[in-house]
Amino acid sequence: MKAAALLVAAGSGERLGAGRPKAFVVLAGRPMLDWSLDALAAAGITDVVIAVPDGHEVAGHVCVPGGATRSASVRAALAAAPAEAQAVLVHDAARPLVAPDLFRRTAQALEHADAAVAAARMTDTVKEAGPDHVVQCTLDRSRLWAIQTPQAFRRATLQAALDVEPDLLARATDDAWLVERAGGRVVVVEAPAQNFKVTTPDDLRVAELLLGSSPAHL
Ligand code: C5P
Repeated sequence: MKAAALLVAAGSGERLGAGRPKAFVVLAGRPMLDWSLDALAAAGITDVVIAVPDGHEVAGHVCVPGGATRSASVRAALAAAPAEAQAVLVHDAARPLVAPDLFRRTAQALEHADAAVAAARMTDTVKEAGPDHVVQCTLDRSRLWAIQTPQAFRRATLQAALDVEPDLLARATDDAWLVERAGGRVVVVEAPAQNFKVTTPDDLRVAELLLGSSPAHL
């Protein structure tokens, strides 16, 4: 299946407090989203659509204005993906340490699924607690995965999943959830913990250390 990538980079990144959209914060000498663009190129994925905030077009790439929510940005990028792309790989620009191999493995896993999502095994024990902080239960850690991107989809599946009411779209913290709720088969693809999302200034420092000390991580 011919694959296109949708790189979502239109978030404001308020929690990072860097004074500019997160994907454009300089990380180890380059805008954060450049690291993901490099990994996509190394994985041989040449059709890339980037959802960007107003005024942040990236030279040499197809860019679309992002939406008010992450899923709205995905929907805008999908509409601009080449018609011949039957598979799409959605990736957060906020995960600059993604390895090319993870793009390849999630795309391959699509062979037997409607969606395939990068995920890390939980290392912490997870408990469910009420608003009063009283623990209700402890979950079976061996079955728990922390969901990341890239997330690979059959194009028609993603298109249908995103075609829902705006409030439902706004609640989707990952696109695979929209496929799950429509009865689709979603599989996890084990990813290294290093594929974390840069959210806080501390995350940025860790990413800087990893990329700076190991420029050959790709
Ligand atoms: O906010 P969060 O860190 O979960 O965002 C994940 C990714 O989604 C980021 O790469 C961000 O740029 C992107 N995003 C977007 N459009 C939005 C919100 C987030 O493209 N409206």
